[in-house]
Parts: sequence; structure tokens; C-alpha cells
Amino acid sequence: MTYVTEDNLTGIALERWQKTPDLRLREVMTSLIKHLHAFVRETEPTEKEWFTAIEWLTRTGKMCTDKRQEFILTSDVLGVSMLVDAINHRFDTGATPTTVEGPFHVADAPEVANGGDMAKGAPGTPCYVTGTVRGLDGRPVGGAVLDLWQTDGEGLYEAQRDNITGPWMRGLYHTQPDGSFRIRTVAPIAYSIPMDGTVGELVQHAKVPYMRPAHIHFCIAANGYHRVVTHLFQDGDKFIETDAVYGVKSPLIVDFKLKQSGKTPAGEMLDTPFYEVAFDFVLQPQAQAIAAE
Ligand code: BEZ
Ligand code: FE
Repeated sequence: MTYVTEDNLTGIALERWQKTPDLRLREVMTSLIKHLHAFVRETEPTEKEWFTAIEWLTRTGKMCTDKRQEFILTSDVLGVSMLVDAINHRFDTGATPTTVEGPFHVADAPEVANGGDMAKGAPGTPCYVTGTVRGLDGRPVGGAVLDLWQTDGEGLYEAQRDNITGPWMRGLYHTQPDGSFRIRTVAPIAYSIPMDGTVGELVQHAKVPYMRPAHIHFCIAANGYHRVVTHLFQDGDKFIETDAVYGVKSPLIVDFKLKQSGKTPAGEMLDTPFYEVAFDFVLQPQAQAIAAE
């Protein structure tokens, strides 16, 4: 029998977990032990520091409910959510890239007709988003479902608004047979990730960025293509290079063209400012994706 020393402990633990019959579990757990032991050997935490970490994890777990997921937020600010997303969606470079879903998507968004308004009186500058959905071969994708969600012009999502009765700043659009879509909304603004929990505490202490640049979330689904969960980011936003959750990819940065007045893409005349955004989404055919969903 070999008893443990500081030097042989990692090897002994690895040997024990090498006997796990489930091969994938064995692979994941032995890798975790290897990296976790290396982390501890490198950082040499005091017992007080180790207990502080365990206490932080305990409080993080206790904050999680069906409405709030502080562990996902932890994974977001450490860049792990974007890494898992990238590994699982290795699309062709011509396809619209994915980015994190985030915690604010609400299922069963209301259907909105092509060109219809999903802001429905929410505060903010009117914003018209137009474009097409196509396959990698350029063929238009008719009947694609675009599920959108975003903040209103005050930076708040539905979950953050107390006094509303119906859906807020979200909608389901469908592309036309020529792949086109027309959306009427209000422009989102930059906002802070939730800062009233353990992640906010950590981020504030570490002085790392906690703002997200203005963006509109899209989930696009169509038969025969990989579902794309992504955002369109406003070019020029002052947080574009320091997104708290590392979600920005250059093909997703778009010009939000500000017009002072005039004819909108919906054909109406406005004598107040509005934004025009044009973007063409390109979907990855299912058979061509390298990593399966
Ligand atoms: C969001 O885009 O809504 C979001 C994503 C990750 C963390 C917090 C918010
Ligand atoms: Fe968001």
C-alpha cells in the first residue's frame, strides 16, 4: 500500500478514477483532477482562501432558481460559455456565427407579421431591421423562424420589468418565400450583466468589465439547417471590445444607421430619429456542419 505525499497524491487520485467504467465520465473526471490539482499546485491556496472559494460556490448555488442561473453567469464571465458554444458550432466561415444565448430568452414569443412591431409602445428609438436568410449556397430560405429578444431603449429585458402584463421586447417572425424579413422594434442599449449576486461581487472585486454592448438576440431555425443562436451588435458601441461575456464576433457587428427623419423601410414617414439595420443571415446546412448539435 502506498500512502499519500504531496508529490504522489495526483497520481493516486488519477489511478482511482481511471477505473470508472463509463469511458466519457472517466475521460472528463481524470482530466478535471489533472487540471484541478495543477491549479492548486500552481496557486497554493491557503486554507482560508480555499474555504472562501467554497463559500462563494455555496452562495452561488443558493442563488440559482428557475428564474436565475448564477452558475451560467459564472461560466459566461469566465469565457467558458463562449468556448463551449464555439466547440459545438464549428460552422463554415461563410455561415453566420453563433454566440451565447444568455439568461433572458423567454419561450413562446408572440407571432409578429412581417414588418410588424415587436416593441409595441416600449421606450426607445424606432429601429427597422431588414434582411434575408439564405443557405451557404446563396439560396433563400423561406419559412425560417426568427425568434428575437432584446432590451428596450432603457436597457431592460422583460424579466427586469415589474409592471408589465404581456410579452415585452420579443417576437417570432417568419421569412418570406424569397428569404426576406422586416422587423420593427426599438434600438437596444448597452446594459450591465446582473450585478446583485455572487458573480457581480466577484466581477466588481476583480475590476473586470461587466457591461454588454447594445445587441439584439436572434434564434433562427429552418428545416435542413442548423439552428443559429446569435446577436447583432451595434457598431460603435463603447463596450464592443470589452463585452463582459466575450460574445462579440466581427461578422455580427452591424451598422445601426441613424436617420434624423424621413421614409422608413416600412414606408411610413417619421419626423423623429430612427435606425435602419440591414443584415443577411447565412445558415449552415445540417449535413455540412462539422460538430453535430
Ligand atoms: C445577455 O445577452 O442577455 C446576457 C448574456 C450573458 C450574461 C448576461 C446577459
Ligand atoms: Fe442580451
